[in-house]
Amino acid sequence: MAIDFDLPIDRSGTWSMRWDRYPGDVIPLWVADTDFRAPPAVREALAARVAHGVFGYTHAPDELRAAIVERMRRLYDWRIEPEWISFLPGVVPGLHLAARHLVPPDGHVLVPTPIYQHFKRAVQLAPRTHADVPLVLAAGRWAIDEERLAAAVQPNTRLLYLCNPQNPGGTLFTRPELERLAEFALRHDLLVCSDEIHCDLLLDPGKRHVPIASLGAETGRRCVTLMSPNKAYNFPGTGCAYAIIEDEALRRAFSADSHATVHDPGLFGYAAALAAYRDDEAWLAAQLDYLRANRDLVERTVGELPGLTMAHVEATYLAWIDASALGLHDPQALFLEHGVALSPGAQFGAPGFVRLNFGTQRARLAEALARMRRALGAR
Ligand SMILES: Cc1ncc(COP(=O)(O)O)c(C=O)c1O
Repeated sequence: MAIDFDLPIDRSGTWSMRWDRYPGDVIPLWVADTDFRAPPAVREALAARVAHGVFGYTHAPDELRAAIVERMRRLYDWRIEPEWISFLPGVVPGLHLAARHLVPPDGHVLVPTPIYQHFKRAVQLAPRTHADVPLVLAAGRWAIDEERLAAAVQPNTRLLYLCNPQNPGGTLFTRPELERLAEFALRHDLLVCSDEIHCDLLLDPGKRHVPIASLGAETGRRCVTLMSPNKAYNFPGTGCAYAIIEDEALRRAFSADSHATVHDPGLFGYAAALAAYRDDEAWLAAQLDYLRANRDLVERTVGELPGLTMAHVEATYLAWIDASALGLHDPQALFLEHGVALSPGAQFGAPGFVRLNFGTQRARLAEALARMRRALGAR
């Protein structure tokens, strides 16, 4: 399939959160969307709905439920039923619903950190008490410290949050790691809310994503799995996500005020999701090749830059860069001064780090890395 991921797309005037935040000559590599056009089938499906011209109240299409059921079986050998799926406008509301509806007011949550900021926000706003459990760098990848996790359990701990693949760390948790986590959840009678939004963004050939809920009946019954095609197919502005929950009581509790506080996806979200899952596998594979080369460029360059290190990114298009050796209070500010906007590590609970989104055209990425090199040289 001939897709030119190198083609620069002008996003000015499109209300892009990423591009509008920083005025002037700044390359924005922060919030996690990409600069690529959504795949052809998604654009065609949306164009067809626009041409139809009637945008009335829309229910979740049975075809999309069926496509998700088929996808889980094909990719993960995970047999789910269509009624296990609850649609959401995004994964973030799912994180909040889990904290509010699945954890009692005096309950406690385990949060492996650093982590995408909305996990912590969910427990803080619910509000529920929680423990941060820092990831550890082991054999060049960010892993869960199982001893610290066990030590953080309290009598009222009810939920373990998981982000797999991990944002910002880039780890794809392995089956044995997940089996140990599942066994841990069972031992302590915990629910698991697993955000797997990055599950299609696997950069290392041969490595496979494993939904923790697919590990067996005992585990499946205590899991809420959050997924969405938004990230991999790049239509987060359209919005369609879903929770897969096997246990009926859990599902009912999760969706207790559905449609009151959290709305369903809109029709464009449904149409985009169905098209992506049905027809855009070849596009996804081509995008992964492109992102893999971008990842390699980032890893090579960061390896050459004084004061910066990073772990290998197995999945996602996000590089978690340790800048703590620079001894700066705010390393993001240094790179911003030199024309590159990264996400500050403080946002994820690690102020010495920055997160770089490499989901962009390679020439722009190379220019951003050159600016970062200059920024370090100018100190
Ligand atoms: C781990 C993770 N979860 C959720 C989201 C956002 O999901 P949504 O836009 O579907 O709410 C992101 C976006 O960066 C993310 O990285």
